[in-house]
This record gives sequence, C-alpha cells and structure tokens, in this order.
Amino acid sequence: MPDPTRKLIVGNWKMNGLRADLEEVRALIAALDDAPSAARLALCPPATLLHGAAAVAHGSAVEIGAQDVSTQMCGAHTGDLAAEMLRDSGARLVIVGHSERRADHAESNAVVADKVRAVLRAGLEPIVCVGELESERDAGRAEAVVRAQVSASLPAELDGHAFAIAYEPVWAIGSGKTPTLEQVSGMHAVIRDVLGARPSPILYGGSVKPSNAHELLHAPGVDGALVGGASLKADDFLAIIRAAE
Ligand code: PGA
Repeated sequence: MPDPTRKLIVGNWKMNGLRADLEEVRALIAALDDAPSAARLALCPPATLLHGAAAVAHGSAVEIGAQDVSTQMCGAHTGDLAAEMLRDSGARLVIVGHSERRADHAESNAVVADKVRAVLRAGLEPIVCVGELESERDAGRAEAVVRAQVSASLPAELDGHAFAIAYEPVWAIGSGKTPTLEQVSGMHAVIRDVLGARPSPILYGGSVKPSNAHELLHAPGVDGALVGGASLKADDFLAIIRAAE
C-alpha cells in the first residue's frame, strides 16, 4: 500500500505529445535528480509514447501511467489496448473513467468498474476519476452524483489493492475555473466517507497550475493532484511538484 502521508502528483498529457516532447520528461527528471521531491510522481503520456517515456524515466523518481484501458484482456477489439500491453510498454498506473472518456465514449460507471478489474488483473494501479457536471452542481446534486460514481466505479475486487481516486469537477477541467477550497475539501470528505477504511489517496484535478497548486495541495483532505495542461511543460509541472512540499 502507498504511504498515505506522501502526496501523489500525476500528469495527464491527454492527446498531446510527440516523440520530441520526451525532452520534457528528460528535463523533469534532470531537475528532480538535482533536487528530489518527497512526493510520489507519475506521468501519463499518450499510449504512443508509453514505451519511450518509460525508457527515459527508467530508474528515476517518475512512474509512467496510461490514460485508458480496454475492459478485455486480448482479442478482436480493433484499436483498443489491453492492460497487459500497457504494462509491457512500461505503465505502472492507469487512469480510468476520466470525464473526457465518460463523455466522448459514453463510459458508464459499470464500464469503469470493468476497466478497474482489467487493470488489477494486469497487476497495475488504477486512478479512478469522478466528478460532477456544472449543471449537476447548480442543481445541488454534486455530492449525490460523486457518491454514486465512487460507489459504482469501484469493484469489490479493489479491496486490498493500491488505487487512487481523482476528484475532477468536469466544469473545472481545462477551463481555468477551480472550485473553492471549501468545495474541494468538502467533496474529498464525501469521497473519504464512501471509501470507508480504505487508505487510498484522493487527488484533486481541474485547472491545477503553478499559481494555485500550493493552496489546492494543502487543502484538508487533498492527497495529491491530477494535472492536465500544466503537466505538458517540465517547468510548470515541476513548479506544481514543488508546491506539494
Ligand atoms: P486540466 O486537466 O489540468 O488541464 O484542467 C485535468 C484533467 O483532466 O486531468
């Protein structure tokens, strides 16, 4: 089980990055070699860069993760990637149920739970994303939506395995808008309540950047961050990593 007192900072490159951008991974690692971070660190490049990023990050403090996975183990599923393939490419963690996948690919909580099972079968660690739409928050339904997502996205097989939850209000992703610290801590407390005795870290995600990382990362109940746009450049991501200390 991961150390619950250590922040977990995960970068999500989404559908960005060519091989030349592995220079950013090199720069990040060089800076961390000079001045190590106490946080646990991971970067999730697109699948095309998993192998290359894992080679660059080999032996460093940066773990490599994938952004999605098939529910299936192998077979006739053109374009999909099995968890074992991700592990073979160097991934150790897998983001599952990101809101962009829930929206663009109609992933239900049941599909997300199946993906979590696939990740566990391959011996990888899932990062399960949840978060309400702006309309759901406006309607006063944010807590109910997130409670339901957490309950239905986490299969019973997770018990005893390491995993993380990322709370990402959909309206905060890529928008520059962030919830108040009270809203963040309040929702993290709700998620902690649903998790019960499980010690998994709860990350905040949605427009985390160098200028707001310190307050978000030190808000009560926040165990780390899932960072999209600001993880693409080593300098920005490093500033967020430093803010965890
Ligand atoms: P953002 O994305 O930091 O660009 O808002 C976060 C995420 O979607 O994981």
